[in-house]
Amino acid sequence: MAISRKVREQMNNSSWIRRMFEEGIELRKIHGPENVFDLSLGNPLLEPPAEFKDQLIRLANENTPGTHRYMPNGGFPEVRAQVAEVLAEESGTPFTDAEILMTVGAAGALNTILRSILDQDDEVVLIAPFFAEYVFYVEHQTGVAKHAGCDENWLPDIASLEAAIGQHTRAVIINSPNNPTGVIYPESSIAAVSEVIQRAEEKYGSEIYLISDEPYRKLIYTEAPYPFIFKHHPRSIVATSHSKDLGLAGERIGYIAVNPADTGKVDLLDALNFSLRTLGFVNAPALMQRVVSSIQRATVDIGIYRAKRDLLFGSLKKIGYDCVEPDGAFYVFPKTPIPDDEEFVAQLQKELVLVVPGIGFGTPGFFRASYCVDDWVIEGAIHGLEEAFKQANS
Ligand SMILES: Cc1ncc(COP(=O)(O)O)c(C=O)c1O
Repeated sequence: MAISRKVREQMNNSSWIRRMFEEGIELRKIHGPENVFDLSLGNPLLEPPAEFKDQLIRLANENTPGTHRYMPNGGFPEVRAQVAEVLAEESGTPFTDAEILMTVGAAGALNTILRSILDQDDEVVLIAPFFAEYVFYVEHQTGVAKHAGCDENWLPDIASLEAAIGQHTRAVIINSPNNPTGVIYPESSIAAVSEVIQRAEEKYGSEIYLISDEPYRKLIYTEAPYPFIFKHHPRSIVATSHSKDLGLAGERIGYIAVNPADTGKVDLLDALNFSLRTLGFVNAPALMQRVVSSIQRATVDIGIYRAKRDLLFGSLKKIGYDCVEPDGAFYVFPKTPIPDDEEFVAQLQKELVLVVPGIGFGTPGFFRASYCVDDWVIEGAIHGLEEAFKQANS
C-alpha cells in the first residue's frame, strides 16, 4: 500500500508496455541484438541539425550574467518573441511573445494546459487512436478521459465526437500528424471538429478548448501546407516540442501557443504560468530555450524519414497488409490480419519483430510499427512481417 492506488491502477493498465520492453530484452539476450527488429519505440533516430551544435557552442562561450538563473515561468521574453515570430509566419496568425510559453517538451505542455483548465472530474475527449499517455495526463490533472472514434481514413468521426462531448467536457485533444497513424488532419476535419465543439458550447452554455498536440508538425512528407487550428476555434491551444523535428527528445524543450483571438486568454495565460510553476517545472530548461529560439526554421533531414516511410509502408502493402498511407510522423498503423492484435503482436515476436498492439492506442485490431530506426532494422523486420501475415492467412 506504499504507493497511490490510482498510480498502481494506471501502472497495471499500461503493464503491457513494460512486458513488451522486458520481452524485447529477453529476445535480444537469446538471439543477439542484431537479430531482433524493434519497431516498437518512437525514439527519434536522427541527430539534431548542424545549427543546433553551432548555437550550443556559441551560447556556451557567451558570458552574459544571469542566463542560468530563474526567469519568468513562461520563459525568456526574447525567446518567446522569436518563437512567436516564426509561428506567426507559418500559421498566418499574429502571435506575440505573450501568447507563447516555453515548456518541458510537449508532455510538459499538455500537463500544464490540463492542470490549468480542469476541475475535478471534468472531461477531456480523446480521438482514438491516440497517444496512450494522454489518459494518464488527464487523470493526473483530475480529469476523466472520454473516447471518440475515427473513420476508415483515421480522420475524426464527427458523429462519435458529438456523442462523446457532454455537459462536463472542457477540452478535445487532437494530434496531427498523428501518433500512431501518421495521418494529417485536413482543414475540413479541423473545421468539422471545431463546429461540433461550438455547437456543444452553445448547447451546454460551456467553454470547450480545442487542444492540438503537434510534436510531429514539421515531419510531413507532402507538399500541402499544414492546417493550423487557430482560425477555426478561438479557444484553441497548441502544445508542441522540438523532440522530433530537431531530434531533441532528451533535452525536454517545447512550447504552448495560446490563440491570440481567445477573449479569455489573459486569465488562461495567468493560469498556465501558475501551473508551469506549481507542477514543479518552474520553467523550461534555460539553455535549451536559447538554443532552439535561434533555430526555429531548422529541422532534421525529413527526406531520411520519408525514405524510411516508403520502405516500410511499401513493404507492408506488398505483403498485403491493409494500411492507410502515413503523410507525417514516423509510424504506420496497419490492420492485424487476425482480429486479436495482442495475439498477432505475439506472433510477430516469434518472428523477432517488435511492434505495439493497437489496444495501447484505444484501437484494437491494428498495430503500430515505427520507422524511426536504422534501415537494417526495417529490412530485417520485413521477413518476419511477411511470415506472420502468411501464417495468419493460412
Ligand atoms: C503524440 C505525442 N504527444 C506528445 C509526446 C511527448 O513529446 P515530448 O517528448 O515533447 O514530451 C509524444 C512523444 O512521443 C507523442 O508521440
